[in-house]
Amino acid sequence: MCGIIGYIGNKQALPVLIKGLRRLEYRGYDSAGVAVLDKEKIHRTRAVGKIDELAEKVKQEEILGTIGIAHTRWATHGGVTEDNAHPHFGKDGKLVLVHNGIIENYREIKEKLGDKHEYKSETDTEILAHLIESHYKGNLREAVEHALSHVRGTYGLVVMHADHPDSLITARLGSPLVVGVGEGEYYIASDATPMLTYTKKVIYLEDGEVAEISKDKMETFNLKDEVITKCVEEIEWDDEQAEKQGYDHFMLKEIFDQPTVFEDAIRGRYNLEEGAAHLGGLNMTVEEMRSVDRIILIACGTASYAAMVGKYAFERLAGIPTEVDVASEFRYRDPIVNEKTLVFGISQSGETADTIAALREAKRKGAYVRGIVNVVGSTIARETDGGSYIHAGPELAVASTKAYTNMIAIMMLYALQFGRLRRITPATGQRLLKALREIPAKMNQILEQADKIKAIAEKYKDYKDVFFLGRGINFPVALEGSLKLKEISYIHSEAYPGGEMKHGPIALLSEDFPVIGIMTKDQLYDKMRSNIEEIRARKAPLLLIATQGDEGAKELSDDVIYVPDTMELLEPLLNTIPLQIFAYHVAVMLGRDVDRPRNLAKSVTVE
Ligand code: F6R
Repeated sequence: MCGIIGYIGNKQALPVLIKGLRRLEYRGYDSAGVAVLDKEKIHRTRAVGKIDELAEKVKQEEILGTIGIAHTRWATHGGVTEDNAHPHFGKDGKLVLVHNGIIENYREIKEKLGDKHEYKSETDTEILAHLIESHYKGNLREAVEHALSHVRGTYGLVVMHADHPDSLITARLGSPLVVGVGEGEYYIASDATPMLTYTKKVIYLEDGEVAEISKDKMETFNLKDEVITKCVEEIEWDDEQAEKQGYDHFMLKEIFDQPTVFEDAIRGRYNLEEGAAHLGGLNMTVEEMRSVDRIILIACGTASYAAMVGKYAFERLAGIPTEVDVASEFRYRDPIVNEKTLVFGISQSGETADTIAALREAKRKGAYVRGIVNVVGSTIARETDGGSYIHAGPELAVASTKAYTNMIAIMMLYALQFGRLRRITPATGQRLLKALREIPAKMNQILEQADKIKAIAEKYKDYKDVFFLGRGINFPVALEGSLKLKEISYIHSEAYPGGEMKHGPIALLSEDFPVIGIMTKDQLYDKMRSNIEEIRARKAPLLLIATQGDEGAKELSDDVIYVPDTMELLEPLLNTIPLQIFAYHVAVMLGRDVDRPRNLAKSVTVE
């Protein structure tokens, strides 16, 4: 939540900061602000709303300076007002900072600071600015370090001071921070996307580190003021990958990216002849892999629905009992985990606070902890003892699409890797791999139907409630279809396993309550068909996702979207795509802000 950016170098800071904020806008977008230091004067401008509002406002002023900080906000403390927008000043108007995270003991700090401090906002961040200022005795970094030793909570922050026109101080605890290294310039941001235009060289700050950055030098310290040596890493994503490439929205682009990035996910990670997968990053010996007697998949939201598909793969292919745990529940229920448990944290951003905390808990209890992550160098990628990147490329729309399919791809390969050590034959492995290799072409066949799906979306867009039904491996597909629709169109939707309908939910059905059923040809086809007949009898409008060639599906429903046939285990990789396209078009037709739906943020870095 919230995106922060800082710049120091030879360029004019303002355009760099505004452009960077646009890249970070997916992290939060209820208000934004920028502060630039011009000689000894700090110009601060803030605006409620999207970055466009701020960009308009700064056009009206002349703001010069080659050092500055900026912030896009997703409100946690205090309402959405200009006063609450960052950057926040300390008491004397010389120190200004941007912050991502939550200062848990802000009330205590405020009390200790006493009545001499007057606050203009309701934020914890402004109190932090005053706290740092109260420790300031001429050395800004030391003031930050001393202040942070009194803070409980999480922070990624960048601090600027009018008396220090040649340096920015940045610090991290629990909120991501990346430093981009240019020629005589540095960028600091919540993730690497704002700096991709300028540099591919980055340094990841770790929890408990503070850096003092001038345009030619970066020095990093821990909170005990000891110097730390940092490595410069190279990132793979290019600037173009982060742009819309002609699509109206990032979400649509990312839906259409799926065939290509799916190939990126599996390439070089299997051996067809042996019917085996070999994901290098697992970092476990064969003995250790054989000793695993339980797998726990920890994730949130869409990633947790991908994990529910993964559960089928691990149980069917590897015969290992597998549980899916929503991260925010796992961490607080004293989970039973031991040294034979393998825990995978599954996350697009690699920064989801609950998932990080759950993985730390699992690690403390002695489990093998591995990551299945998209963002390279993210906290989960660095804190786990191995795992795999899903290679989906930058996912900028708030609603996750391509990360979901690639997470499933990686879990299929891991399940195969474990399965070949335990029970399945090379022939079974080969069948799975052949089917996996066919997935991109089959995804393309579905994408070719985008216009037809759009026409169907037009028919359903005005309903107020929708049911999604699936069974077996298609139940997670129903959950994901429902989440996609509700989060971007704001239409109320629910997902149920088909067999559960008659235990209550069927009472809701009427001519005004359509059902979207996933009825592809798998082992539960006949059961699902019976459930669909029950719905038909209640006259609810019915849209089916069915396997190509299933003519009966047409007679049973009002509308059908056909998908190519595949192995049952892989059905979610195809069946979810029409639901993504459906949700997208419904949301566009309703005039929603598809890439940045209300109340949501791309990476949920607060609990
Ligand atoms: C929904 C969506 C969220 C995320 C969830 C986990 O479209 O994007 O439900 O899946 O917040 O995020 P990551 O995968 O970054 O841990």
